[in-house]
Amino acid sequence: MNFTFRQLKAFEAVARHLSYTRASEELHLTQPAVSMQIKQLEEHVGLPLFEQIGKRIHLTDAGRELYHYSCAIAAQLAEVEMVLDEMKGLRRGHLTIAAASTANYFVPRLIAAFCKRHQGVSVTLEVTNREELLNLLAINAMDLAIMGQPPTSEPIAHPFMDNPLVIIAPPDHPLAGERNIPLSQLSGECFVMREKGSGTRGAAERFFAEHGVALRAAQQMHSSEAIKQAVEAGMGLGVLSMHTLEMELLLNRLVVLDVEGFPIRRHWYVVYPRGKRFSQVGQAFLDFTLQEAPHVLRAPPLTTGRDTSPALETPT
Ligand code: PGA
Repeated sequence: MNFTFRQLKAFEAVARHLSYTRASEELHLTQPAVSMQIKQLEEHVGLPLFEQIGKRIHLTDAGRELYHYSCAIAAQLAEVEMVLDEMKGLRRGHLTIAAASTANYFVPRLIAAFCKRHQGVSVTLEVTNREELLNLLAINAMDLAIMGQPPTSEPIAHPFMDNPLVIIAPPDHPLAGERNIPLSQLSGECFVMREKGSGTRGAAERFFAEHGVALRAAQQMHSSEAIKQAVEAGMGLGVLSMHTLEMELLLNRLVVLDVEGFPIRRHWYVVYPRGKRFSQVGQAFLDFTLQEAPHVLRAPPLTTGRDTSPALETPT
């Protein structure tokens, strides 16, 4: 068989996402370019690797078999790259970070501070929601992941910074400026929530369920940016990390409600699979994050929400 690493990489991404669109976004290629790689790979293999049923694509038996080996080959390639980077030292290493969508608000600043110290290091940052991060961790597809709620099983997770979740409203909302709003008073309110699979959404749902309050998630949006716009436009209340709100609070476009039990106190974690073999640059970034992140990055101060509440999140 005479296929190329490029074809195998395209195949691995399509098989993992079961989507040509998401694979092409991840690989920074056009969709026709990814389809072409898969077509050529299927010609080399001599068997179809995917089948389309309705709107969804599925792996064929041959595809499943090849996916198993392509994950192993990708891990071996990453290891070769790491060994070679080690020989070059920190001068020319490469780092792959995967971050929860919400962490997108500060991880680039962390990377910038790290790269300033270690010029010559190049970085790939994958931004995705918690569910997808768990998939990436399971196949060891990055040096480090940054997320708000690590799984309790396999991986190693170090907390490195607070991640308070607050309830936001437009400044003219009837509850804006009220003190100690009872949680039960929110049962009639509509919420604009993140998509299923989001760590923020999971934490908010658990919090409301534990306190016996039904959460009316009337709208669902895929990004914190969209939620802020929707809340500002009066579509409902939102639950977001303080790290996403710096600008809106400064400009008084949104306010934090002072609700009983809030903020939900969480942390940001740097996570990696147990037994991970770090490259020099991976180890340096881990050390840098644990030592420097709280200084390099600061969440905006809580202006309205009660910061005395002990609403610690229960890990799942
Ligand atoms: P999310 O994760 O961006 O998927 O919501 C962040 C978090 O868990 O806090």
